[in-house]
This record gives sequence, structure tokens and C-alpha cells, in this order.
Amino acid sequence: MTREDYMAHALGLAERGRGRTSPNPVVGAVIVKDGAIIGEGWHKKCGENHAEINAFEDAAAKNQDVEGAEMYVTLEPCSHYGKTPPCAKAIIRKKIKKVYVGLLDPNPLVAGRGIRMMEEAGIQVESGILEEECRRINEIFLKYITEKRPFVVMKTAMTLDGKIAAYTGDSKWVSGEASRAIVQKMRNSLTGIMAGIGTVLTDDPRLTCRLEGGRDPVRIIVDSNLKIPLDAKVLKDENCIVAAVENRGGEKANQLRERGVTVLTTKEKRGRVDLAELMEQLGARGIDSILLEGGGGLNEAALKAGIVDRTVTFIAPKFIGGKDAKTPVEGQGFEKMDQAICLKNIEINRIGDDLMIQGTPERK
Ligand SMILES: NC(=O)c1ccc[n+]([C@@H]2O[C@H](COP(=O)([O-])OP(=O)(O)OC[C@H]3O[C@@H](n4cnc5c(N)ncnc54)[C@H](OP(=O)(O)O)[C@@H]3O)[C@@H](O)[C@H]2O)c1
Repeated sequence: MTREDYMAHALGLAERGRGRTSPNPVVGAVIVKDGAIIGEGWHKKCGENHAEINAFEDAAAKNQDVEGAEMYVTLEPCSHYGKTPPCAKAIIRKKIKKVYVGLLDPNPLVAGRGIRMMEEAGIQVESGILEEECRRINEIFLKYITEKRPFVVMKTAMTLDGKIAAYTGDSKWVSGEASRAIVQKMRNSLTGIMAGIGTVLTDDPRLTCRLEGGRDPVRIIVDSNLKIPLDAKVLKDENCIVAAVENRGGEKANQLRERGVTVLTTKEKRGRVDLAELMEQLGARGIDSILLEGGGGLNEAALKAGIVDRTVTFIAPKFIGGKDAKTPVEGQGFEKMDQAICLKNIEINRIGDDLMIQGTPERK
């Protein structure tokens, strides 16, 4: 196996922690000696062992001696005392000979110090192995640690003629089963899920995760005037945030708070919730990632406000027609084609009979 093969294996391990490590990164580590993997680990949950320590424990459980071995780790080993002691020190203590690092940790508490600490102890370090892949698996962490605002994924599903529902509002279902299963995984792994009041009033969704053994994201409803009915399904479960414009909605804010709902307020922007300010407030509450599930009104505002970091669009091979049928991005839109929000880093996959197109909106 090549260095890249070992790092790819570590990337696969890192993925196993997805959705449980927030606000920490997902990290995988592999220990290699004489051409064989003798230990492997990943960060399973915030507050618990880091990947490197789990790899050492795995090697110990297999009675393997790690002295003189090489380690592959997707993210620079930490150098500071946080919830757990520094991994760089453990690597030195275990007498690892060489460490291959995928990506430097931009966390100001680490930022190159982990590598320096190991090098000063005589360990060889080579960084940048599958760097792009290592960055991609931690795009949420990388944004949150540097900007303290959530990474927002805008998910939409539409027909070939660009509709997200029939003209009657019926939308069950636009995309196929396999696509919907991916969405459930996203709900299971991202910290929050956000929808506009229009979607709540039309569909009365629960916005929960229907995966067996899955966990529900924090529900965030954007509702400038607190129109949300007190018996809305989304309010029935714990962990719901309603965002409104300050001094709107009268008694409703208190009624919601009495029911255990968190009501956040922002200043108004064009008469509505200021989405950029809302992202700052949500980031300060520890929400590092959000699945934006529309509808079209909120999607357009989110794209224009520049808060969307990734779009995931499912296109189902069917036509539903109807000039009044809703589309994924509504509002007024832009005047000219050259104002369009273009995507970069595009990925296209076929999911069952659907297409899944992902990309990063370019900031203008
Ligand atoms: N297929 C799919 O992927 C999918 C996903 C979700 C929804 N949908 C469909 O989408 C439809 C609902 O879409 P919609 O456009 O009517 O409603 P929406 O996007 O869910 O909500 C729009 C409302 O959000 C509120 N809002 C608060 N702050 C805002 C801001 N800064 N910018 C924009 N809006 C803000 C506004 O009401 P206030 O001014 O009162 O606050 C606005 O009218 C439903 O038919 C639903 O079935 C489809």
C-alpha cells in the first residue's frame, strides 16, 4: 500500500465519527509497521479520546508494539490540553518514528505547534498527504473554528422542470427513496435544520431524523413575525429555535418560551430576519452546521445573504408542470444572467434514478 492508500484508509475511519464529534473535527488515524496496519482509530465523540489515542489503544488490544512504527493521521495532532491531553505528546511517548499528516489544524490553539512539538522530539513529519480530501471531510470544522458561524448546506429536490411541489402544494415525493435516505443521513449528521415559516404553514413538517438510531437536529424556524401556530408539529419535540425580528409578535414570544422553545431575535433586514446576524447568534450557541431545507423564499434570501456554503440538489426524472408550482429558489431573483450565483467544486452523482449535484456557491 502507498502513503495515499494508508491516508485514504484513515479518511474512511474518520467518517465513522461523522455527526457525533461536533464542534470537534472528524479524524482518523492508522499505525503502520513493517507494511502492516497494527492499529487504527477515529475520534468517536466530542470529549472522548482523539483518533491517535484510539489507534494506540487498538494496537495495545492486539498486543502490537508501536515503537518505531509510522502513523497516518488526517489532521495535525493536537498540542494543547483541552478536554483530553495533547496527542503530539502521546505520539512522542510511544516512540513513533514518522508521522504523515493530512492537513494542518487551523485551530489557533494548534496551528503547526503539534508538528513542531513532534519534530523537536526527533520524529519525522510529512504533511499534505491527500490534503484536499482531508480538508473536504472537515469543511464544517474548518469554517466554524475560524469564523464561529455555522456551515450551511442548502438541500433541494426538484423535478426535471424545476418544481419542488405540484401546483396544489403536494410534494410527496419529488425525489426517489435512495435520495431521501441521503437526506436523512444529512439530518443525522448536521447540528441544525432550518426552514422558513412558509414551509411550516404549508407542510407542518416535524424536521426530525427518521433513521433508526439517528438523532434529531436542532430545528430552526425563520419566522419574522412569530406566525408559527403553537400546535405546529415542529414545536412538539425538544430543541426548537424560532428566529424573529426584535419587538415583533407581542405575547407570542413568551407563549413559545413557556413551551420550552428558544426565541432568538435579530434586527430587521428589509422587514425580515437578518440571516447574517442569525448565523452569528447560532454560531455563538455552538451550532456549527445547518441543513437548510427551504422553501424557495428562504433559500433565495440565504443565497443572496451569502450564508450558503454548499448546495445539494436532487433532480428527479419527472415533469409536474404548472406555472404556479413552487421552485427551489424563489423571491424576485436577479435581473441578468451574469448576476447568477455560480457553483464551483461541482460533484455530480447518480442516486437511483435521480441526479445529485453538489457545489460551493462562489462569493462575488
Ligand atoms: N422539495 C423541497 O426540497 C422542499 C423543501 C422545503 C419546502 N418545500 C416547499 O416550499 C414551499 C414553501 O416555500 P415558501 O417560499 O412559501 O416559504 P419558506 O421559504 O419556507 O418561508 C419563507 C418565509 O420565511 C420568512 N422569512 C423570515 N426571514 C426571512 C428572510 N430573511 N428572507 C426570506 N424569508 C424570510 C418570510 O416570512 P415572514 O416575513 O413572515 O417571516 C417568508 O415568507 C412549500 O410548498 C414546501 O412544500 C419544498
